[in-house]
Amino acid sequence: MSEDKLRVVRDRVRSFPDFPVPGVLFRDISPLLKDPVAFKALIDLLEDHLRASFPKIDVIAGLDSRGFLIGPPLAQRLGVGFVLIRKKGKLPGPTESISYSLEYGKAELEVQSDAVEAGQKVVIVDDLLATGGTMRAACELLARLKADILECLVVIELKALRGAAKLEAIRFHSLLQYD
Ligand code: PRP
Ligand code: ADE
Repeated sequence: MSEDKLRVVRDRVRSFPDFPVPGVLFRDISPLLKDPVAFKALIDLLEDHLRASFPKIDVIAGLDSRGFLIGPPLAQRLGVGFVLIRKKGKLPGPTESISYSLEYGKAELEVQSDAVEAGQKVVIVDDLLATGGTMRAACELLARLKADILECLVVIELKALRGAAKLEAIRFHSLLQYD
């Protein structure tokens, strides 16, 4: 059953060579989002994984921008809130910020200082882990707010880039792995 759902999800990820820069094989989740059966299967799988892994989750945090597509439906299923971790300059009020590098460039991430309370149990979600720079930066931001980071959760892991190692002791899970 869950193997069937995983196959439906995998079948809706397509690849584009040399995007956005030469040498990068871009994994595109647009067909997955466009197909309601596959999108539902994705959220089912992520929900099942989190329910089986953690007795209590307070908040889902999503990464700008594709984490915003996956995090809110997942948070709704779990009956918890959703928090935005955004690229620089998008969030009003007091923020924490951090710069980081990713597979094809550099960027800066921010979170509102009141986004989570100290000790709240947070799962961070995104579509994809490549070098792990983005996810690691998000962990650092939430650690500054004294969140209890339960897990970093992604749909796709690009194994060859060894991004999971960058997360060190923080628990990590991916649904689909590519070399
Ligand atoms: C992509 C992807 C992840 C990040 C992974 O986002 O959605 O957030 O790169 O790369 P890393 O593991 O090497 O850090 P991107 O920064 O391209 O932004 P987007 O979602 O707005 O396209
Ligand atoms: N973000 C970083 N690397 C990526 C890739 N290869 N495909 C899609 N999104 C990415």
